[in-house]
Parts: sequence; C-alpha cells; structure tokens
Amino acid sequence: MTLGGPTFDLVVAANRLPVDLVIDADGKSTWERSPGGLVSAMESVMEGRDAAWVGWAGESGEAPEPFHQHDLYLQPVGMSAAEIQEFYEGFSNDTLWPIYHDVIVPASFHRSWWNTYRTVNHRFAQAIAQVAAQGATVWVHDYQLQLVPAMLRALRPDVRIGWFNHIPFPPVELFAQLPWRRALVEGLLGADFLGFQRTAGAENFLRVCRRLLGLTTKGDTVTFTPPGDDPARRTVRASAIPISVDFQGLSALARTPAVIARAAEIRASLGNPEILLLGVDRLDYTKGIRHRLKAYEELLRDKAVSPPTVTLMQVALPNRERVDAYRVLRDELERTVGRINGEYSVLGSTAIHYLRRSYPRDEMAAMFVAADVMLVTPLRDGMNLVAKEYVACRNDLGGALVLSEFTGAWHELQQAFICNPHDIEGVKLTIMRAITAPEDDRRRRMKTMRKRVADNDVQRWASLYLDSLASAPLKPHRRTRASDDEVREAERADRANLRASDRASERSGG
Ligand code: F6P
Repeated sequence: MTLGGPTFDLVVAANRLPVDLVIDADGKSTWERSPGGLVSAMESVMEGRDAAWVGWAGESGEAPEPFHQHDLYLQPVGMSAAEIQEFYEGFSNDTLWPIYHDVIVPASFHRSWWNTYRTVNHRFAQAIAQVAAQGATVWVHDYQLQLVPAMLRALRPDVRIGWFNHIPFPPVELFAQLPWRRALVEGLLGADFLGFQRTAGAENFLRVCRRLLGLTTKGDTVTFTPPGDDPARRTVRASAIPISVDFQGLSALARTPAVIARAAEIRASLGNPEILLLGVDRLDYTKGIRHRLKAYEELLRDKAVSPPTVTLMQVALPNRERVDAYRVLRDELERTVGRINGEYSVLGSTAIHYLRRSYPRDEMAAMFVAADVMLVTPLRDGMNLVAKEYVACRNDLGGALVLSEFTGAWHELQQAFICNPHDIEGVKLTIMRAITAPEDDRRRRMKTMRKRVADNDVQRWASLYLDSLASAPLKPHRRTRASDDEVREAERADRANLRASDRASERSGG
C-alpha cells in the first residue's frame, strides 16, 4: 500500500468523528461536537496527542476533505444515504444493538444490511491504513467496526491493532442468533487486544470463540490460525478495562462560579422544588426511561411525591430517530409525559419537565449540580458514563445516585442506591430511600464514589488500555494484579448489594 499524506503513530477509529458536519437550511456547514459517551470519553484522552481520528462525519455523501481540529487530524469516511440506512441504522443499530442488549426489542436480520456492514468496515480499514504510520498503534472502537481489525491486518500487517467494545458483549446464546457470527468473531480476532467494559463481556467473547468456532482459550487469551493465506498461529487477549470520565476536568467545571450560578438558576426556573429528580439519557429503549416514568407515576399516584415539592427533569438526547424502535419509544414517552403532566401537574409546577434535545457540557454540569437525586436506571448498559459524570460534578458531596444493577457502572459505584429497573416496586422504594436518606449517609456514599471515579478516571483507562495493547497477548506489567483484585472485591460487594436490594423489594411485597 502506498502512503500519501500525513501519517500518525496513533490512530483512533470510531463510527463517528468527534464532530458532525451539520448543514443548515441555507446550505451553510459547521462542525458540531458529536453526541454520545464515546466522544466525551475520548475527547480528553486525545487532547494534545499528535494522532489521527478516522470516522463518519454524520452526513450522507462524499467524505469531506481531512482537516485538523486542535492537534487531532480528522479523516472523514463517507457514506451514501443507502449505506447510512443499511450499515448504521440497520446492521449496527437494528441487528447488533438489540442482540448486544439482551434483545430488549427483537433484532432484525437482513443479508443486504450485512453486505453493507462489510463494505463500510472495509472502507474504514482502508482509511486507517492510509493514515497509520509504519508500526502505528490503531485503536478501533465499538460494535459498528467489528470487521475492521482483520481487514486492517490484511492491508497493514505491520500495525498493532486494539478494539474496545463500549457496549455489553452478549452471552453466547444471544450472539449465536447472528447468521454472521463466525465472520464477526474472525473480524475481531484480527486485533492484538480486545477490551471490554466488564469481565463478563470478555468471558462471553471467549466462550463464543470456544463454543461457536471451536477455538482454544487459556485464561483470557484465545489462540487460532487465521483463515486465508496467512498460516501463522496468533494469540489474542480479551480482557476487561472499564471506561470512565475525565474526573478532574468535570470536577473543575462543576466548581466554576458560572456553573454553580446556572445550577441555582435551573432550580429557580423549576420553582425551587425541595427535591429535584433528574434523568439524562440518550433516547434509547435500553435506558429504562419507560420503567422509570412508570415508577414515578405510581409515586405521584400514591402521593409519596408531588409537585411543587418534588419534580422530575428528564433530558432525552435525540438519537437514531429513523430506526423504528426509537420512533416508537419517543412517541410512547411523549404520550406518557403528557398523561402524567395532565394528571399530576399543579398550576405553576409541572410533574415532569421533559427536554428532548442535547446540551453543551457546562449546561449538563449545571444540571448535575442542581439535581438532588440522579436517576440512572437502564435495562442494560455497557457502562453508563452519566452516572460517573454526576459523581464527578458533586464537589459538594451533595446529591444521591439511583443506579440500575444492569449498568457497567454498578460494578464500581456500589455506594449508589441500587435498583433492579424491572422491579417497579423496587425502583419506587429506591427513589424514596434516596430522597429520604439522612444527609450524612448520602455524603458518605458520594465521597466513596468520588474517590473511586477519581482513582479510575478516563486518563487511567486509556493508559491501561494502551499498555495492554502494547504488551498483548501478555498482560502489561503494572497494575494488572491490583485490577484483578479490584474486580474480585467489586464482585463480592455486588453480591452483598444485590441481597440488600432484593430484601428491600421482598419486604415491600414487590
Ligand atoms: O457506545 C455506544 C454508542 O453507539 C457509541 O458508539 C456512540 O458514541 C453513542 O452510542 C451514540 O450513538 P450514535 O453514534 O448511534 O448516535
């Protein structure tokens, strides 16, 4: 392959660039920050690095010319309208996404979507091959690009390839439904190192290798002979490295007088409730917003809470609006919010303030500072960075976090008020526990969670990941034992936590 144009020792590839090309009604184009946890997590990691980022610019048509944004070199990948529909909305978000999230909605299987997924993955591999310097480190992100590792290795055997899955990796029983399961695994096995949010995800992947492909695994590695011309046996390591947030950056932002003042303004604009509940989610069925609203509606019905004393602000970031399941969810939520507000709002005070739009980082920080109780209740979530962002913003040790046990974050934030989002009675009880907990109890919980996130921030995640990639298939020298111990300790605490939340629910007859 001939290399023209600039090349980089570090190349990140993700479905989206950290900015989207937005074209307004007059045809004027501007670059705006992309939504989603992946971008916010990687933003601070990439700051100041001389690196390239390969990704889609968020619009259909020819790829715009590569450009610099601060120190980052952005290499756009183009997609036609049909490819957006088949690769992004279709295979990525209507086939893989449901399978990887416990089939909360049924997955759709279409052979044409798969073909387009392959085509677009190959285009990404070619774009990466163009900007990667000899022997570069290439860090591929997420489920949209699972074929890229093997495709890239075929083009550029000299580079070191890592992949990180931001979402859960499903159990073999669900993964096995995919007609293209073998090709997906072979695509991933082109990497040197595969990173997962949780040990369970890495174990699921290794089990898939054994059960569906008959490969040999040992500890957290899998050894195999790649298909095709290259007969060399390779060993790939698959392990958990949970993602985090820029703790220091968020904490500093939340400390600024502007954010503190804005938080007070937000509360005032909501009529200064005694208790402000907050939900901030991408508008996605995995986030458990329906279940959360059901629990809240019942609390209103039972008169356990009522405006103006208590109010809920639900921010829903618009996303994937052309995928049916997302459209259905949006309609349903809007009907539910309308019904609840019609029934329970009082003059001058609304039961739910529903805001379907994205907000800049400082406005989000102000919301986190303003909220007394943060509701994070997904049915399944790889990590959930909102939970960690909330904790990072609470310099005052105020607030309380209600957290679903089906998030990756639950494994680290055991001092949250834990709930099973499917158990409506349990969610109601947990919200009430968070509202009524004594202040010193809430402060103690927040303090411990903040330490946990501060010690395990996104910078540490990135350096652990890059160390693991550099030494794969061996484990990196530093911190590995400690993190294994941490995982075991977390798992012990998880079990204790679960028992406590089950007992609470049983006592309430839920
Ligand atoms: O990690 C899940 C993920 O799909 C990320 O890849 C992405 O940043 C985020 O959710 C938002 O999704 P989308 O790119 O489909 O808007």
